Amino acid sequence: MRIAVIGTGYVGLVSGVCFSDLGNQVVCVDKDERKVAMLRAGEVPIYEPGLKEVLVKNAEAGRLSFTTDLTEAVQQSEIIILAVGTPSLPSGEADLRYIEQAARDVALSINEYKIIMTKSTVPVGTNHKIKQLVSDLSMKPFDVVSVPEFLREGSAVKDTFNPDRIVIGTDDATAATKIIELHQQLTDNIIVTDVRSAEMIKYASNAFLATKISFINEIANICEKVGADVTKVAEGMGFDKRIGSSFLKAGIGYGGSCFPKDTQALIQIAGNVDYDFKLLKSVVDVNRDQRYSVIHKLEAIYPDLATRKVAVWGLAFKPNTDDIRDAPAIEIIQELVARGVKINAYDPIATDNFRKVVEHENITWCEGAMEAAAGADALCLLTEWPEFEKTDLSALRATMNNAVLIDGRNVFSEEELRDKSFIYRSIGRPN
Ligand code: UGA
Repeated sequence: MRIAVIGTGYVGLVSGVCFSDLGNQVVCVDKDERKVAMLRAGEVPIYEPGLKEVLVKNAEAGRLSFTTDLTEAVQQSEIIILAVGTPSLPSGEADLRYIEQAARDVALSINEYKIIMTKSTVPVGTNHKIKQLVSDLSMKPFDVVSVPEFLREGSAVKDTFNPDRIVIGTDDATAATKIIELHQQLTDNIIVTDVRSAEMIKYASNAFLATKISFINEIANICEKVGADVTKVAEGMGFDKRIGSSFLKAGIGYGGSCFPKDTQALIQIAGNVDYDFKLLKSVVDVNRDQRYSVIHKLEAIYPDLATRKVAVWGLAFKPNTDDIRDAPAIEIIQELVARGVKINAYDPIATDNFRKVVEHENITWCEGAMEAAAGADALCLLTEWPEFEKTDLSALRATMNNAVLIDGRNVFSEEELRDKSFIYRSIGRPN
């Protein structure tokens, strides 16, 4: 099939690259000339394992190209994928400016029947608005199909090729058939539904996953008080097929560009129809408070925390990404710095992005994990990068001023740290 993808952010670029790998002819469109030039040169502007290889392979095979010319891309394609950003407005509502503009641009370029496939996460009713917007500007035939995206950053390529399900929301049977065909090599779990339900599936899924995380984090907080181990509790719960074992890892809460934004947006969507989504509001509150557990644990060890030097390992909102959007590390570091604490910070790849958001004379940006730990009174692990698991604990003990480790992601075990005479605190496990 001939496909144009509008927007080369995470979702757009990964979708475009992967659809080309499935044998389709794909052109990715972006307004940013610099980005398009980079992509044409085989450079990937985001950190995403495996993406560059698939991109280069398909570009060389002539199945994948990049352009700033939206009109030409739309006219030569049967399917137009809208994958532009829907960031949060200060109210928490999704900002639909970019997707509406993209829809207008597409409308003005349509020359013959097109399927407009929306992948951006949009509030219920948006695809109907897009349909209206396009038909106001164009007399040509088209259908709008909502196909929400469920890929995760850091495993985006793998997720795209191995989806748990594909959701197709449309009122038109012919468009549905075409979009089923586009995805049928990927999975048998294809759900065809109306547009509003498809839009809701995306928000409900992210809100449910966020709920699982806040739930296990609250269980972790109780475990600490009653002397239970949340990792064992989660394991024991997870064997129940009705519960499932994933997304029950206790820690310092969720971050990233999706859960924080989408939970807020769903609270707003509910509010707009006079529904108070109490459960989800609590999920958001619990998540915000959970970040501070690292600081409470530090304070419990050091009543004079303000005079101390703290090493931070991990700045990205999760491993395998340089994305720091809504990363717990932002608030934690800002709070520590506000109290006068000196910070040595290290992340394998996210430091440059982090420094665009947080910069302070009391923060030293380090090139390596051991360099950050040197002379520190405590070490806080905030992102579970694989390299931290392999730490030589004796060397770590020797380089720190005091062997205090606050493990915000339960990477280490109490026994191994005790053997190395660390003061060790983790999340929801007996200390
Ligand atoms: C999330 C969803 O998992 C994807 O299905 C969805 O497509 C995407 O949002 C989106 O809406 O675009 P992502 O934000 O990339 O994907 O990352 P996740 O792997 O889901 O992690 C989100 C956050 O939850 C991270 O901060 C992670 O540390 C935290 N988390 C995750 C936990 O604290 N505990 C867990 O058990 C799992």
